[in-house]
Amino acid sequence: MCGIVGYIGKKEAFPILIKGLKWLEYRGYDSAGVALLNGSLEVYKKKGKVIEMEQFALSKNHSGTIGIGHTRWATHGEPSDENAHPQNSMNNVFTVVHNGIIENYAKLKTDLVKHSYTFKSDTDTEVLANLIDFFYHQDEGINSEMAVQLALSKVVGAYGIAVLCKNEKNKIVVARKGSPLVVGLGDGEYFIASDAAPIAEYTGQVVYLNDEDIAILQRDGFTLKNVSNNPVSLKISSIDLEIGELDKGDFDYFMMKEIYEQPKTIEETFRGRLRADHSEIVLGGLLNVFPKIEEARRIIIIGCGTSWHAALIGEYMLEEYAQVPVEVEYASEFRYRKPVINSKDVVILISQSGETADTLAALHLAKAKGATVIGICNVVGSTLARETDAGVYTHAGVEIGVASTKAFTAQVTVLTMIALKLANTKGTIDIKEYQTLVKELSEIPEKGRIILQSNDKIKAIAEKYHKAINALYLGRGYLFPVALEGALKLKEISYIHAEGYAAGEMKHGPIALVDDNLPVVVVAPQDDYYEKIVSNIQEIKARKGNVIAIVTEGDTGLKELANDVIEIPKSHPALAVLLSVIPLQLLAYHIALFKGCNVDQPRNLAKSVTVE
Ligand code: G6P
Repeated sequence: MCGIVGYIGKKEAFPILIKGLKWLEYRGYDSAGVALLNGSLEVYKKKGKVIEMEQFALSKNHSGTIGIGHTRWATHGEPSDENAHPQNSMNNVFTVVHNGIIENYAKLKTDLVKHSYTFKSDTDTEVLANLIDFFYHQDEGINSEMAVQLALSKVVGAYGIAVLCKNEKNKIVVARKGSPLVVGLGDGEYFIASDAAPIAEYTGQVVYLNDEDIAILQRDGFTLKNVSNNPVSLKISSIDLEIGELDKGDFDYFMMKEIYEQPKTIEETFRGRLRADHSEIVLGGLLNVFPKIEEARRIIIIGCGTSWHAALIGEYMLEEYAQVPVEVEYASEFRYRKPVINSKDVVILISQSGETADTLAALHLAKAKGATVIGICNVVGSTLARETDAGVYTHAGVEIGVASTKAFTAQVTVLTMIALKLANTKGTIDIKEYQTLVKELSEIPEKGRIILQSNDKIKAIAEKYHKAINALYLGRGYLFPVALEGALKLKEISYIHAEGYAAGEMKHGPIALVDDNLPVVVVAPQDDYYEKIVSNIQEIKARKGNVIAIVTEGDTGLKELANDVIEIPKSHPALAVLLSVIPLQLLAYHIALFKGCNVDQPRNLAKSVTVE
């Protein structure tokens, strides 16, 4: 949550900061601001999107070759001009942008008030700005980085910060604990951002800060140490992001672009990993830990949001084919509920961003208990990717839409490959079925392309139902998590209350909701549960519910029974997940647009939840 950018060099900082903030808006978008050091320290901030702040600042003096910027997702204090970042210290000597939460801010604030500090905002960040200022003024020999170190030694919580000091005009101090920060290395210039995407345009060389790192950026050099003032060795990484990925292309929204990319991204995810003759699955990133996975007493899969739904599908596949016990956990529960884990457990953490605070905390807990920890993640170089024992990248490319789409299908693709590889190695799957599944997986992109041709039909269905207040999504087996994911998509972007349910549970509560106003989306392709789900549809129809059924092409029976049907090509039941979720993404997208919602930036949400 919250996006941070910074620049120091010879160029004008303002356009670089604004462009970077626009890329980072997916991390939060309730207010934005920049600070520039020219002759003086100029701070411009506004409630609303980056563009509103940009318009405001354009009419002011926005020159300067050093600056920091922020786009906010509110934690402490409502979205307002005052609570927007940067936050200045009382006497305007320091200005700070911050991603994270200072948990002991109330106590620190009380102490600062005793030293006559006053506050204009409700933010924890203003407390940090004043705390830095407090230490800075304790002794003439204290410079800005020392003051930042001293302040951070008093802070409990998470932070990614960038700090400017009015008296030190060739310096940005940045530090991280829990919230990601990347420094881009240019020629006599440095770039800062919460992820590498805004930096990719300027340099391919980056340094990912680790927890408690503090970096001092000056035009002529870069120093890295930790908060306790010990030197830290510099690890320079290369990034290779295609800037084209960061463009909406011909689409109105990133979400639609990302839905349409799925045939390609699923292909990217298995490219080089599925042998052409379907004999083998190669997962280079797991090579060293594969014996551990084979011997695992159980596998625990952990994630949040959409990644948690992918985890549920992984559970079904690993248990069915590799016959290993699997548990799926919400990261936010796992990290606090004192789970029993030991070195015979393998813990798989799934995260698109690789920066979700709860997922990282779960990773640290599992690691501390001796489990083998494996990451499935999309963002190359993210904290999850760096801190797990091994992992598999999803290769879905940058996902900007807050509601995850292509990352989900890529995660499921990776889990499918892990489950099949493990099953084949252990000999728990019939070789013919294994080869059928591998072959069918390689055919999913083509089938995905066919589904996308139904977009206009799905749009027409969306128009019919966009005024609904509630919606129910049902599925069985592998398609139960798909029902959960479909409901999540709808509520995230259209604000319609939607519940996903295992269809067999319908009679235990949700059926009471059914009336002639309720759309019920039933994921009902022809699989082992087909007859049962047809019965569920009969029960809904008997109560005048409106059924939108996702069916296998050519299913005439359900065409008669349901109010609307969306066809998907025939596939192996375990892989129908990858197909049936696409119409649900499109349905949510069109309903949200009919309601006039901003699908890429839904209210109250952020893509990367880097605070718990
Ligand atoms: C947020 C996003 C979701 C995402 C979840 C987990 O809630 O809005 O789309 O599924 O975080 O994010 P992760 O990056 O860990 O997959």
